[in-house]
Amino acid sequence: MARRKKIYEGKAKILYEGPEPGTIVQYFKDDATAFNAEKKAVIEGKGVLNNRLSEFFMTGLGQIGVPNHFIKRLNMREQLVRQVEIVPLEIIVRNYAAGTMSKRLGIEEGTQLPRPIVEYCYKDDALGDPLVTEEHIAAFGWASQQDMDDILSLALRVNDFLSGVMMAVGIRLVDFKIEVGRIFDGDFQRLIIADEISPDSCRLWDIETGQKLDKDVFRRDLGDLKDAYTEVARRLGVMPKNAQPMTKPTLIN
Ligand code: CDP
Repeated sequence: MARRKKIYEGKAKILYEGPEPGTIVQYFKDDATAFNAEKKAVIEGKGVLNNRLSEFFMTGLGQIGVPNHFIKRLNMREQLVRQVEIVPLEIIVRNYAAGTMSKRLGIEEGTQLPRPIVEYCYKDDALGDPLVTEEHIAAFGWASQQDMDDILSLALRVNDFLSGVMMAVGIRLVDFKIEVGRIFDGDFQRLIIADEISPDSCRLWDIETGQKLDKDVFRRDLGDLKDAYTEVARRLGVMPKNAQPMTKPTLIN
């Protein structure tokens, strides 16, 4: 069998050339990194969970008309996605203060924000993905004003969808990051959600206990990351079927 051409290898995923033009195979690795890859580990099974969880969220978003790159899952670790031209921004939506926002503004973690706040970071690992304003984005031509309107509306739709899905299984969506990409249809171009949506890029807290069920478990050494992601998948009915609840049983089910 011909070896697939690797297009890009990132911290948590590898991208291969897809079977048809305009498609890409997205492979989810087990590698976990934090603090701009200063902290690293291999968490067996994380890639399988994120592949399934991202499929679940992207499929749901597609069903409510939020355009995204997902085409189909290929196997345990791979999914076929549309090739896009990535906009070099990390789009962060926050419902509760946490992480860098808490540090930057001195707001206690877990404080509910007056409304969802959308932030933009310039996607550049060497610079540590710095926070930028719409002025930088416009001046450096990373996205047009029309793009920014579309990005804001996509981000808020993803937020409403994810918040609702999570609330239904007793989980608070504290914040998350998305990336968007451009697709071209002749002269026409539009933006769709790309990359992944998984507990690697969200903060998810149990509503009852406050227990963290996201990558902060790894960043802050709070326990077993795989157990936390498995719990999210189990509550959402994603997989694996035989997963046991975490030690602290929930009221859901
Ligand atoms: O998480 P961290 O303290 O590094 O940064 P943050 O700005 O507080 O992150 C907000 C949200 O975006 C969290 O859910 C992060 O997991 C996510 N994020 C991400 O997925 N990738 C990044 N490069 C930065 C943030």
